[in-house]
Amino acid sequence: MTPVAGSATTPADSDLVRAARGLPVSRTPVWFMRQAGRSLPEYRELRAGTKMLDSCQDPDLVTEITLQPVRRHGVDAAILFSDIVLPLVVAGVDIEIKPGIGPVIASPVRSVADVDALPDLEPGQLDFLATAVGRLVGELGATPLIGFAGAPFTLATYLIEGGPSKEHARTKAFMYAEPEAWSRLLGKLAVSAATFLRTQVDAGASAVQLFDSWAGVLSAVDYAERVLPHSRAVFDGLGNREQGVRDVPRIHFGVATGELLPLIGDAGADVVGVDWRVPLDEAVRRIGPSRSVQGNLDPAVLLADRDTVEREVRRVVDQGRAARGHIFNLGHGVLPETDPDVLTRVVELVHELTSR
Ligand code: CP3
Repeated sequence: MTPVAGSATTPADSDLVRAARGLPVSRTPVWFMRQAGRSLPEYRELRAGTKMLDSCQDPDLVTEITLQPVRRHGVDAAILFSDIVLPLVVAGVDIEIKPGIGPVIASPVRSVADVDALPDLEPGQLDFLATAVGRLVGELGATPLIGFAGAPFTLATYLIEGGPSKEHARTKAFMYAEPEAWSRLLGKLAVSAATFLRTQVDAGASAVQLFDSWAGVLSAVDYAERVLPHSRAVFDGLGNREQGVRDVPRIHFGVATGELLPLIGDAGADVVGVDWRVPLDEAVRRIGPSRSVQGNLDPAVLLADRDTVEREVRRVVDQGRAARGHIFNLGHGVLPETDPDVLTRVVELVHELTSR
């Protein structure tokens, strides 16, 4: 039922995991951020009548929605259907995801007292997640499941702004005005992200991605001093083989991070996700040879004509050859208006161009 990823017989030997580690692959692996979601009619049908954050806590829905794009497109990985705000929601923070807007927080974090009042996530609150991941791993066979979490900075932007924001001015103001509370807030968020990831890895996820979607609004100096240590703490907190945690590849992604790529490459991940603004060969020069890269087709290209899509896919594949390993993806999530057949064609084309 589920398409087989490359020639692997286990997820640990899949092209996705191998590319992440810089090992030879049978062909370049491909998956799409937001591959599960509104571009798929079968997703819209299944989600009808259930709130986003409720569906993320229903193991049957999570399993089915996660599998939908794997069946339809033959991608080389599944990504867990969930959301970056879920650990906060489960811990008791009042958050709603408003359709077309994003996460909205009932009582934003605006003071030192608000930071200290933020509830901690208890591992026992994530049983539904372990159940969903376990079920998915059983269904997926040799296709790897990517688990994920939101990075401390990106989660802090939602908590402080109270919802989506362009400039993140309140977030930066808090960061400068209350450096100690800022550090405590990001420290708490790092612990919760590590717990969220650890649950997914223990239940069988084969790779993890840390989404720091909005880190690109920061200068390199602020990122290095006030944010990066907390993202590194997520990877450290996830643990390693000596601590009894399965050793799975780590992917670290943000948007508009061109100036931050050398720092992100140094934060502890095996793979750096790159958006469409920096060509992959240039990204490799900035990151260095000891990391793989993921990306970086502009999601808007998928709305263009067939020849443009093909030309741009070829360009990304060619530029990706500069890396020790390349995971083909978009530079950010699939836009809801994308024709799903175009996504399927991109998967076929990447495989065709890179089969060895
Ligand atoms: O397919 C996948 O990528 C896995 C599922 C996934 C979702 N959110 C499901 C979702 C993942 C990995 C995320 C991560 C996420 N959530 C991020 C980081 C990735 C990125 O896009 O930068 C962020 C910033 C969020 C917060 C969030 N949740 C936003 C901005 C939105 C979009 C609001 C909208 O309607 O435009 C959401 C909602 C959301 N998360 C949807 C999905 C499928 C849409 C829900 C719907 O069907 O209405």
